[in-house]
Amino acid sequence: MTLLFRRERGRLPAGTAYIAGRTIREGGVVVFPTETVYGMGADALNSAAVKRIFEIKGRPLDNPVIVHVCSRGQVEQLARDVPAMGRILMERFWPGPLTLVLRKGPAVPAPVTAGLDTVSVRMPDNRTALSLIRQARTPIAAPSANISGRPSITSFEEAVGELDGLVDVIIDGGSSRIGVESTVLDLTSGVPSILRPGGVTAEQLREIMPGLTIHPAAEGFTVYRGKAPSPGMKYRHYAPVHSRVLLFEPQPGLEEAMIAKWRQISRSGRTAAFLVTDETEIHTGTVVRLGSRERPEEIARRLFSSLRQLDRSGVDYILAEGIGEEGIGLAVMNRLRRSAGKARGRSPAHRKESGSSP
Ligand code: TXA
Ligand code: MG
Repeated sequence: MTLLFRRERGRLPAGTAYIAGRTIREGGVVVFPTETVYGMGADALNSAAVKRIFEIKGRPLDNPVIVHVCSRGQVEQLARDVPAMGRILMERFWPGPLTLVLRKGPAVPAPVTAGLDTVSVRMPDNRTALSLIRQARTPIAAPSANISGRPSITSFEEAVGELDGLVDVIIDGGSSRIGVESTVLDLTSGVPSILRPGGVTAEQLREIMPGLTIHPAAEGFTVYRGKAPSPGMKYRHYAPVHSRVLLFEPQPGLEEAMIAKWRQISRSGRTAAFLVTDETEIHTGTVVRLGSRERPEEIARRLFSSLRQLDRSGVDYILAEGIGEEGIGLAVMNRLRRSAGKARGRSPAHRKESGSSP
């Protein structure tokens, strides 16, 4: 049975963090809000509890999870040889959507890091998440809460819809403020490198680290095979269950190309819907608006919930408009490209069951 803590008039019931924290301490699994997306958490120092997360999500065992902390002191419990730059970044961006890949300390059990000698840590910028970690009195390992391969979860309703009955607790945090996951930054390999673009932008990081590199896979075009610096790169992600996403890179003639595709699909007896920015002049059929190109933060915030909304509506194809890669636009395009990705080879079991994508 899943215990649901729902917000009433903006407030969680008294004792929510205490009970959920105790659940974590006792080896349970708690779905909780963060500023990026909802996470599925367990005691990061309890191997069996972390394994349960992999089982529930259907997550490949070689994909490590991020450990969430509520204090810098907890980082010392998890990592060793934290470089000076790591401390500067924590000072500047924590709490916030920046995950640091550091050298792993001996206390971290193998399932958390999928056997790697590095551990990724972040301090979420969300009051509920922070009080949960405090009450649990242990760092919390938490991947995004979605079943592996699906779009991330950004609301309580989506969390309940997907996970009720599978986890011990789900905590309501309303809609996620940022809507895409944290930036994953590797500090262990000489030159700092963005492995996954996210809530903290490359531009923000470059102000502090002019030499910053962005891993080629961070654009989201390629699905990595074999040894990837971030195992998450290898797997298909963010994909709706029923609908197939077709992404149109931003370019002149985009509207005509999207409408032509819509006509072609309609003629073949299948259904398609548009996922576009406010500026795009498309008014045919089902149109879901992500927000203005001028405000990519708004687009990021609505991205996953819009994909889920269209997927629930049962359309065969989602014709999605790409946006510029400045700022958080890079994270949005990474998610869109990967959700449209054609690589199938290593899809987790949960995804194979859907079987409906052509
Ligand atoms: O915003 C977020 O980061 C959310 C919230 C819940 O905090 N979490 C999240 O976790 O997105 P997940 O598991 O969906 O994505 C974690 C990514 C994966 O691509 C994984 O491969 C990578 O981080 N990662 C984790 N530990 C790593 C490590 N030691 N080295 C390289 N990549 C790592
Ligand atoms: Mg994820």
